[in-house]
Amino acid sequence: MRSVRGTTSNPKVTHFGNSESVSHIPTILVFDSGLGGLTVLREIVRARPDARYVYAADDAFFPYGQHSEDAIVARVVPVIGELIAAHAPDLVVIACNTASTLVMGHLRRAWPVPFVGTVPAIKPACARSVSKRVSVLGTSGTVKREYTRTLIADFAGGCDVTLVGSADLASMAEAELGGGSIDDADLLAEIAPCFVDRGAAGRTDTVVLACTHYPLLLARFMALAPWPVTWIDPAPAIARRVVELLGPGDATATAPAAQMLFTSGRPHAMAAALAPFFGAAAVHHA
Ligand code: DGL
Repeated sequence: MRSVRGTTSNPKVTHFGNSESVSHIPTILVFDSGLGGLTVLREIVRARPDARYVYAADDAFFPYGQHSEDAIVARVVPVIGELIAAHAPDLVVIACNTASTLVMGHLRRAWPVPFVGTVPAIKPACARSVSKRVSVLGTSGTVKREYTRTLIADFAGGCDVTLVGSADLASMAEAELGGGSIDDADLLAEIAPCFVDRGAAGRTDTVVLACTHYPLLLARFMALAPWPVTWIDPAPAIARRVVELLGPGDATATAPAAQMLFTSGRPHAMAAALAPFFGAAAVHHA
């Protein structure tokens, strides 16, 4: 792997920003396997437009959904260590369900910086479902996780939960963001298993978007859905958690420049398409 700083990292980190200073601008590191985490970043930027953002995409290892659990832990923990050493963030958001359902304990044990993870929003989905039929659409990795099964056991509250794993939707979402055209039939084949109709016993009324890439396709999903459902995107809840941890900040402050990093080191072809996710901030690509 190419170093995320372009240099060899020093894993010994002693400083996570200076939260005592009144004028301190917090640095928020948002991490995903690729571009899906931008859907989470977008909500955090709306809530804290005054923060300094570093968005890191582990595109050299994308898609995470195809890797084993051990391989993801072995990959993500040191990459996050390098990013912490390089950027001294005040808070780190793991904007990836496939990683968060595995690595949060490892990260919290390794570094004292606050971490916010992204895990399938099963509890709020089941609480709001009227038909008590909820589907969870995630990567094939996320739907297999023990963590996800435990969320269902603890929070389904009498709901019938259907797990739908997709091997390709994250890549389709990146293609769509890049201006490619994904066929309706291909997208429908991925989401169709979410729509369960048991006749008089009710049908699915709520679908959890359990991969941060999927909100990029939400307009397409809504157009293709065989009947209307509520789609649960966890990003607003994650933004609220960030504000709880860092405070409300100053909504009138000028946005500091943001940084976007790719672990492949490839210059990114879609810089213009990605800029709106960062709000008013100028984005430097590295
Ligand atoms: N965005 C990631 C998630 O939330 C996964 C995409 C991938 O397979 O890398 O699960």
